Amino acid sequence: MELFDVYPLYDITPVKAEGSWITDREGIQYLDLYGGHAVISIGHSHPHFVKRLQGQLQQMAFYSNSVHNPLQEQLAQNLGKASGLEDYRLFLCNSGAEANENALKLASFHTGKARVIAFDNSFHGRTSAAVAATDNPTLVSPLNAGHEVTFLPLNQAGALEKELEAGDVCAVILESIQGVGGLDMAGEAFLRRAEALCRKHGAVLIADEVQSGFGRSGAFFAFQHAGIRPGIVSMAKGMGNGFPVGGILVHPDFKASHGLLGTTFGGNHLACTAVLSVLEVLEQEQLIPRAADLEGFFRDRAKGLPGLRQVKGRGLMLGLEFDFEVAPLRSRLIYTHHIFTGSSKNKNLLRILPALSVGKDDLELLFNALEKELT
Ligand SMILES: Cc1ncc(COP(=O)(O)O)c(C=O)c1O
Repeated sequence: MELFDVYPLYDITPVKAEGSWITDREGIQYLDLYGGHAVISIGHSHPHFVKRLQGQLQQMAFYSNSVHNPLQEQLAQNLGKASGLEDYRLFLCNSGAEANENALKLASFHTGKARVIAFDNSFHGRTSAAVAATDNPTLVSPLNAGHEVTFLPLNQAGALEKELEAGDVCAVILESIQGVGGLDMAGEAFLRRAEALCRKHGAVLIADEVQSGFGRSGAFFAFQHAGIRPGIVSMAKGMGNGFPVGGILVHPDFKASHGLLGTTFGGNHLACTAVLSVLEVLEQEQLIPRAADLEGFFRDRAKGLPGLRQVKGRGLMLGLEFDFEVAPLRSRLIYTHHIFTGSSKNKNLLRILPALSVGKDDLELLFNALEKELT
């Protein structure tokens, strides 16, 4: 049997990874400033993460959501404390798309309405409602296209108000910092206005923190820079540092009932242990303030790079936007300098999504390589 060929691949086969470094099967080491698409938060194979998962695996890997799982309760407690959202409630699933799918479904159950507002350049995943709210028609099959979704330009509160006034909107879903779209940010004033407008018109504000959450922006969640409280927060990626896990945090206004949401694997013992260990390391190593500090270093160091238009993003969710298309540069960074970076819908933008434990010396290697390539 062959693989269903949906991924364009770089010709590299990683076999081992530690911290911010990946080793391929030829023994070549690569600096990982992409984090496997913003997934690696506390660093590859962090010893605490490995030890916790090994211990849990020996004890018990899985049982279904039909019995008590004290790890889920512990995780809800610890996540509440770490994020400051102690009065929200936690539902666990397995991926970012699934988190958004559940968020949109819950918003529709809660309001009894069906229309969704999403934003230009958004990416929310590939399940049915999530992909319908994703601004990329090539990903939307005729089956997904049945959802009622209206796309608006980001940061235009007047346009949002006009749509919400129709009274048929169940959810406004947004990324405070767009990932796949290319690091455009929802302004803090816009986020506060969106929160107030959703409240006024009975719609649910869904903060998609799948990529920007778990400290990557220098706050636990990126929307917290604006001081808002969304109806639902979706999470995945850095949450499990590579263990597949996602979830939503649900505002206390929502009523739970048995059977409303559900999943076989969501919240299993290994997944909970992975997330607990991520929270422990974020706290022990103070990685969230570190992400905020490193942004300053990165911005200073980037100044004067030939062809650089701007540095976008926040914390360690960053983009270098140049006045040329970066695909060839990205290939040279990988094959000549052995540095992984990311791409985005914006063809001129290199995405930088390192582990939050990345060193200044590691980032220095990127800038040295860029200076060599661009001068
Ligand atoms: C903001 C955002 N939401 C949702 C998703 C989908 O997550 P997953 O690939 O885990 O389904 C992604 C993935 O890149 C994302 O960046």
